[in-house]
Parts: sequence; structure tokens; C-alpha cells
Amino acid sequence: MDKTVVELFAGVGGFRVGLNDVKMNKNGKVSEKSNFDFVFSNQWEPSTKVQHAFDCYQTRFGESDKHSNVDISLVDKKNEIPAHTLLVGGFPCQDYSVARTLSKEKGIQGIKGVLWWQIRDVLEAKRPPFVLLENVDRLLKSPSKQRGRDFGIMLRSMSDLGYGVEWRVINAADYGHPQRRRRVFIFGFHKTTNYYKSLNHKDYYNNITIEGLIAKAFPVKNDLSKNKQTNISKNSYDDLVVMTNNFKFGFENSGIMIDNEVFTAKVEPIQEKQIFLKEIVEKGDIEEKYFLDGSDKKFMSLKGSKKIARVNKETGIEYNYSEGKMVYPDPLDRPGRTMLTSEASVNRSTHVIFDVKTNRKRLITPVEAERLNEFPDNWTNTGMPFRRRYFMMGNALVTGVVRKFGQEILKVIDKEK
Ligand SMILES: C[S@@+](CC[C@H](N)C(=O)[O-])C[C@H]1O[C@@H](n2cnc3c(N)ncnc32)[C@H](O)[C@@H]1O
Repeated sequence: MDKTVVELFAGVGGFRVGLNDVKMNKNGKVSEKSNFDFVFSNQWEPSTKVQHAFDCYQTRFGESDKHSNVDISLVDKKNEIPAHTLLVGGFPCQDYSVARTLSKEKGIQGIKGVLWWQIRDVLEAKRPPFVLLENVDRLLKSPSKQRGRDFGIMLRSMSDLGYGVEWRVINAADYGHPQRRRRVFIFGFHKTTNYYKSLNHKDYYNNITIEGLIAKAFPVKNDLSKNKQTNISKNSYDDLVVMTNNFKFGFENSGIMIDNEVFTAKVEPIQEKQIFLKEIVEKGDIEEKYFLDGSDKKFMSLKGSKKIARVNKETGIEYNYSEGKMVYPDPLDRPGRTMLTSEASVNRSTHVIFDVKTNRKRLITPVEAERLNEFPDNWTNTGMPFRRRYFMMGNALVTGVVRKFGQEILKVIDKEK
């Protein structure tokens, strides 16, 4: 089996950087291992005219007609995407519910603009043997009024296409990466693969703690005190519409779906040595614009504890919204907090660190933001405004986590025909 990859929602290329262990020297020369062969990628940012993420990807990996810059929903003919062994992508958590269309021929339909259906369509058209997806951990619990429905729908649609699925919420910092970033990783494997056949299908417990690909890459303590099962077969839910209306299930941070049977359990990571923020801060002189002037007071108030009276829009009932106090400035002897797309603005979640060299507080630099995600220094320094560079990193992923996935996926591919 070849090692071809299609990367959807590619952003600035986090999956590719991780899977191919990409490095860049001070002169911007990129070196890439040939672990995987990227045959197609797609990236299009709906909110801006200028396509900074796409441009960055092209600058770093070279201009190529294999990298497309169109809205993925407009790629009607998904079968024209090249055949591939592994499909990867980090996509938004949206409403995955499905309704019956008025015209019977059209069957059933998910909400327009929901990007999960684009991934599903590629899976249907190309049936890649393996899939690796990334999302916020909230996906497992959404929507709030019908917990687990969206992930249930996703699992069922993958099952209908012949896939088994393993998932795990991984906090990168637990496995020796510099950021406390919790994301759910979803590994799909088609029933035609040796990998699918090699798993003992009923030994769910063993699969998610020892035998499965995720367990091998990210070891856990073997304690499944909280575990439960559900079935998503046609006997339980005729189709995705019936599932939309009825499915509710508490997904834990880890699980497997195989032959329509879903098994989930709460697992605990075997923690690796932590990397602290102080290990990734820049050593040289820092530009003056990153230092706080008048905004220190504002940050102190934003990061302090507060109680605010709010009104619930639906019920009209007044309630107290409260926030706890955050450690300020960010502790240097812990891994960094999660980076959000809003990092560069003055808000509660922005990192502020104490600069030991100057005894002053400052924002993290774009290079430090890149280091939190284990991208090469200056990866996003491709002509975009510096604030946009934080945005890119808020969207991206910790590439070292992807690298570990890649190493296990290569072993699995080697055992295929
Ligand atoms: C969560 S980010 C993934 C970032 C990526 N993993 C990285 O390392 O940079 C999702 C990406 O999907 C892109 N996107 C959003 N809507 C899209 C659409 N309709 N078609 C193609 N790409 C889209 C966004 O611009 C964003 O870069």
C-alpha cells in the first residue's frame, strides 16, 4: 500500500509538518522527510479575501496545482480528488443534524455549510483505507441539549461507509509537548484493511488501552472504571434522521466503534516529562511592541475573578455568570495554555509572560506561538500581518502529536498489502 495523503482544511500545513517531520532553517529553507506523499490539499478561508494560510502553505511547500484554494463545498466532483491511503484534516465543530428532504428522491440532508459532510463525501467517493481527523474536544458533548448527538452521527456515517473508528481526547502537554491543548483525534480504518481485521473486535477494552493505534502512540493507564456501550446499527436507528432525533450518549475521552458497536471509557494518560513555557521563550532581544504599557491594568482586570449579572436570552431569567481568577502572568514553569485564534488581542485568554531579561511583562511573540505548536520558527512569517500569525497558530495543531500518529500509521501501512 502506498503512503499517499490528502490534507483537507490544511491551514498552514500542521498535518504535513507533523507527518513529514518538516524542518526549516534560518534562511527559510524547508526540508521535508518523505514519510508520506502529499498528493492533494485544500485550504480556503471564508472570512477574508486575502488567503494568508494558503499563501503560507505555498511559500513553505512550493507552488503546486496539488494545493487548491477553493471552498471545499464547491468541489462537486469529489471523485476527481486523487486516490489516497490516508485522509487528514482538522475541521470545525458544527451542528451535524440531518433532516429528511421534501423530495423523496433526494433522501436525507445535513445542514448546508457544515463541513463534516464534505469529509464524508470524500470518504464516500474515494474510500481511503485510513483517516485521521482532529477537532475540539467539545465535539464529543455537542449539542448541549442532546449530548453526543453530533459525534454519534459522525460515527454512524463512517460506519455506513465501512469504517471502524478509534478516538481519544489528547492533551498535548501530557505527552511531552509544550502546550496544554486538548483536542479529540479520530482515527478511521476501513473494514477492508488488515488493521481492521487484525483487531479482536469484541475486546474493546484491550483495543483502546493496548492494541489500538492510538493506545500505541499515546499510552494510558489500564483503568477503565467508567465504561459503557451503545449500538448504532440500523436496528437501533434506521438512518441519520432517526438518529438526529433520538441519539443521546455520554462519550468518554476514549473509545472505539467497530461493527456498529460503540464502546467508550475514561482513560488516563501515562504522563511524559513536561515541557515548560520557559523552555520555549525566545532568548534574544524582544521587539518593544510586545511589551505591555497601559494594557497591564486591563489584563489584571480581565484575568481576575468576577461575577456578572446576565439574562438568559431564551428564558429571560437572570443569572450570575462567574469566572475564576487566572494565574497572571502565565507561569513559566508549566506548559503553555491553549492558544486561541484571538491570541494577539487584549483578552482574558491571551498569554502574558514575565520577561526575565527586562523584568517587564509582555505578550508572547509569533515565534513563541509557533513553538507552542511545535512549528519551525518563523513558519508563518510569509508576509501576513503579525497578528494574523497568532490566528494561524490558534487554528493549527501541535505538530509533535501528529508526528507520533504518523509513526504508528506508517507501521500499520507496512502491514497492509
Ligand atoms: C481548524 S483549522 C485547521 C488548521 C490546520 N490543521 C493547520 O495546521 O493550520 C480549519 C481550516 O479550514 C479552513 N476552512 C474553513 N472553511 C473552509 C471551506 N469551506 N473550504 C476549505 N477550507 C475551509 C480554515 O480557513 C482553516 O484554515
